[in-house]
Amino acid sequence: MKTFNRTTCISLVAILLLAFSLRVEAQQCRPSGKIRGKKPPPGHCNTENDSDCCVKGKLYTTYKCSPPVSSHNKAYLTINSFEKGGDGGGPSACDNHYHSDDIPIVALSTGWFKNNGRCFHNITITGNGRSVVAMVVDECDSTMGCDEEHDYQPPCSNNIADGSKAVWKALGVPEEDWGRLDTTWSDV
Ligand SMILES: *[C@@H]1O[C@H](CO)[C@@H](O)[C@H](O)[C@H]1NC(C)=O
Ligand SMILES: *[C@@H]1O[C@H](CO)[C@@H](O)[C@H](O)[C@H]1NC(C)=O
Repeated sequence: MKTFNRTTCISLVAILLLAFSLRVEAQQCRPSGKIRGKKPPPGHCNTENDSDCCVKGKLYTTYKCSPPVSSHNKAYLTINSFEKGGDGGGPSACDNHYHSDDIPIVALSTGWFKNNGRCFHNITITGNGRSVVAMVVDECDSTMGCDEEHDYQPPCSNNIADGSKAVWKALGVPEEDWGRLDTTWSDV
């Protein structure tokens, strides 16, 4: 009877540990693959405003998920033009239109974009000690990149909020520092 109890006890601990590790696993967002960079053809990849261009032969990690959404999501804020001819590539994914960079709008990494599920929803972005409400209009594609559709830019990381210049202005970031900032966002 004593042996049986000990075995039961060990089994229970093992089951608990397994359940816990599965839970941790479910909460993480793992890479979905890698793509190899191609050299942008002449006239492609707009390098204005800090945009990255793919480097031939370099491997880029792709993600189909983003970190799980909480009330404060840590995001890396980058800058994007949503205007025609801007560095954002094609029109916005939510409505297939271009948008003025003078309104606070944002593209979110694929997992957070939720397959258009956050289109036209507003999020509060907090950074530099201030907050701004921005509307989600586009996807920052974490699953693909380095092709014409993405203006030969690498896939986005899985934790990006890619904001218009109005977002940067509202956060009070001096113009020379626009481009990269640690922020948090939450659903409005
Ligand atoms: C770069 O930023 C400037 C200032 O915000 C803007 O006027 C210009 O259109 C941007 N260029 C691109 C390609 O997005
Ligand atoms: C987001 O904010 C804009 C501008 O204030 C508003 O027009 C729009 O209806 C809001 N979206 C949602 C889903 O509430």
